[in-house]
Amino acid sequence: MEERSNTILVTGGCGFIGTHLCHAMINAGQKVRILDDLSSGKAAGVPESADLIVGDVADPEAVADAMAGVDGVIHLAAIASVELCNRAWVRSHRTNLTGTLTVMEAARDAARPAIPVVWASSAAIYGAARTLPINERTVPSPMSPYGADKLGGEQHGLAAADIFGVANTALRFFNVYGPGQDPHSPYSGVISIFAERLGSGQDVTINGDGQQTRDFVYVGDVVRALMASLDRLQRRRRLDQPAGFDAINVCTGHAVTVTALAETLRDLTGSTATIAYGPPREGDIRDSVGDAARMQRLLGIRAETRLEEGLTRLLDAQGETRRLATAG
Ligand SMILES: NC(=O)c1ccc[n+]([C@@H]2O[C@H](COP(=O)([O-])OP(=O)(O)OC[C@H]3O[C@@H](n4cnc5c(N)ncnc54)[C@H](O)[C@@H]3O)[C@@H](O)[C@H]2O)c1
Repeated sequence: MEERSNTILVTGGCGFIGTHLCHAMINAGQKVRILDDLSSGKAAGVPESADLIVGDVADPEAVADAMAGVDGVIHLAAIASVELCNRAWVRSHRTNLTGTLTVMEAARDAARPAIPVVWASSAAIYGAARTLPINERTVPSPMSPYGADKLGGEQHGLAAADIFGVANTALRFFNVYGPGQDPHSPYSGVISIFAERLGSGQDVTINGDGQQTRDFVYVGDVVRALMASLDRLQRRRRLDQPAGFDAINVCTGHAVTVTALAETLRDLTGSTATIAYGPPREGDIRDSVGDAARMQRLLGIRAETRLEEGLTRLLDAQGETRRLATAG
């Protein structure tokens, strides 16, 4: 008898991280169903064999339909821009918190035991942590509606496991980068903007003195963490282990200053552009670096892509996009 392949629902599968994840899961022989409202994601990038449902993650009927017959869920759908969440406070709350609850409730109702859920939390829950590196016992102190909703999702994640038997893992992503991040979006991360500018010979301006630090984690390593987390929950479910909730940092454990990032990109592109400094951006966190020990212990993986290697892949992809745009 032919073995049925593992069918996974990916919410937000048309976004930056979701597109990489869907390709990796299909390459690993899994069946992928996507639920995405295409508000920021693009259908064009997803693998042809994925089944795309266009719908809202906070709509209980759409989520219940999308979850029928799946073996696991990876929930990434969110308004991922802190700035946009500030402007659209209640709307982003509906997607970022009600959407997460809607997924967990549908996972509870779809099967016995419930369907396991791995979902995207964020390092934004920590706010400006006083001690570094930030580990999972660091007291959360979000500084934005976006971070508050991710933290709220984690508190419901605990209830989902304890009260409703929904095994779930919240992955606290630090600063994710890689090919496919849109540098033209006003909400794009510092890496894709700097890479695009330096890659096309333009100068860059750093907000503040450039000594602020971040933990930049390559998207391929984030995908490995997502897949390993779901694999772990599915294994526990097969062994009839009780549903639990875990929060895990997804980070490299290395702090990189924004100046070092810009200089590395300038070296890699061979650019002679100027790196200038402007006024600091209000509300920016000074330092952020994660402790990756728990990720290694629970998931058995490390974020192993070196910054230069990840940046080279990003620059190659941006170069290819520019070439195609010029040719077309
Ligand atoms: N990129 C990062 O550095 C980072 C860091 C921490 C956490 N995260 C989290 O990781 C997840 C993925 O982030 P990303 O960078 O790929 O973002 P993204 O914006 O590229 O992808 C989000 C996807 O969700 C979809 N979406 C938005 N609202 C929806 C709704 N109401 N219903 C259905 N789909 C909806 C969008 O169309 C998009 O395809 C998000 O939950 C984000 O908060 C990202």
